[in-house]
Amino acid sequence: MSTTPLAPANQPRKRLFVKTWGCQMNVYDSARMADVLAPLGYAPAESAEGADMVILNTCHIREKASEKLFSELGRLRSAKQAKEAEGGRMVLAVAGCVAQAEGAEITARAPYVDIVLGPQSYHRLPEMVARATRAAGAVIETEFPAEQKFDQLPEASAPQGPIAFLTIQEGCDKFCSFCVVPYTRGAEYSRPAAAILAEARRLVAQGTREIALLGQNVNAYHGEGPDGATWGLARLLHALAEIPDLARLRYTTSHPRDMDDALIAAHGAIPSLMPFLHLPVQSGSDRVLKAMNRGHTADEFRRIADRLREARPDLALSSDFIAGHPGETEQDHQATLTLIAEIGFAQAFSFKYSPRPGTPAAGAPLHVAESEKDRRLHEIQALLRDQQERFNRSRQGMRCDILFTGLGRHPGQLAGRSPWLQPVHTEGSPALIGRVVVCEITAGHPNSLAARILGGATGDPNQEKAAA
Ligand code: 5AD
Ligand code: SF4
Repeated sequence: MSTTPLAPANQPRKRLFVKTWGCQMNVYDSARMADVLAPLGYAPAESAEGADMVILNTCHIREKASEKLFSELGRLRSAKQAKEAEGGRMVLAVAGCVAQAEGAEITARAPYVDIVLGPQSYHRLPEMVARATRAAGAVIETEFPAEQKFDQLPEASAPQGPIAFLTIQEGCDKFCSFCVVPYTRGAEYSRPAAAILAEARRLVAQGTREIALLGQNVNAYHGEGPDGATWGLARLLHALAEIPDLARLRYTTSHPRDMDDALIAAHGAIPSLMPFLHLPVQSGSDRVLKAMNRGHTADEFRRIADRLREARPDLALSSDFIAGHPGETEQDHQATLTLIAEIGFAQAFSFKYSPRPGTPAAGAPLHVAESEKDRRLHEIQALLRDQQERFNRSRQGMRCDILFTGLGRHPGQLAGRSPWLQPVHTEGSPALIGRVVVCEITAGHPNSLAARILGGATGDPNQEKAAA
């Protein structure tokens, strides 16, 4: 069993001391815990003194097991306080059978213990450590300085052009089994709404007509509003929609769990919110969604899609899929294909599952063979490609607004974006760059649309068939 640290180059080494009581099972478990923490930068240490993390792996069989634990905890409390006095942090965890049996008593009698975990939860240790270290303000500040980063952004950033990206949120607290983001990018952080609105106005003054709001978990946005209240994404979108000359709004990437009523309603209420949403679902199987820790079922996703389409009938969906998550069976894979067939996606991204060190899925049993993952991915991609081609073809003959973003590849050609984010090509004057113009879609290709300019701009990206 290897305990080679795999810490990212930019992460300092941290010292982990594990004290083990009891049987060979516990010795084995201690080595496993060191293994799952190695990718977070923890390397084994010889003693608890000065350690960044201490795990007491306990045994319930011996007499006076809990007395021994509490006297050890008393000693560690002093070491922990000494470390804090130096501005450091020691994460203190109690694992093993005593933790399982007496979890509540441990946290009551020794509230300075950060983590209590039973033998069934070792694979979740990286998540627990990430949560525990974030709980301390000082550590969050130094490890994930999102606030400082935003504060230091230059006031007047360079013009981005007709389409601009604006980061409103960073980090993620969802801890999907396969994903490294909560460990690398830290806890969710939302920028204050006033700063976002100011940046959006600045971008629009510089010629931007479409803004895509960005965040790892953008619809979990919960920033401070100018009124002192906490604003969700729907509230922020309504405020952004008031900015004159900001013709289009989008946001990405979202999580189904955060598609709340207000946000779904915003898709119906805000004409400038474009009728295209990237909403990753990852799998169509409830078993796999549970193993992925996604926090929703396939039917809940179907319901969200229905409600979004009720609010905005021309809304098209995009998504992410993972083929061959550990434990995924052929039946689970078929459930994903069924979900794709039922929902109908305008486009989507699909990936073969690949283990990320330190994530629960990487250490999970029943990894799917590479050849099997390849086959499932090909089937998913064939279906998605077919849906994308059909969606693009279905735009043919429609009249809709195109935002021109630059020159096309050929002389006399303009490039732009449809309301559904497809690249569009047409013949036209460069004077139209930066403007939203009504066009007729003349052809729907697999990856783009061709269009013909009809005339003046409208504010509404409607999709009526062009008058014959
Ligand atoms: N293996 C495969 N795909 C992954 N993604 C994230 N982590 C993994 C992984 N370990 C995919 C998810 C996510 C997208 C950005 O990348 O589908 O939504
Ligand atoms: Fe967060 Fe998305 Fe990663 Fe899940 S997949 S942990 S929601 S960033």
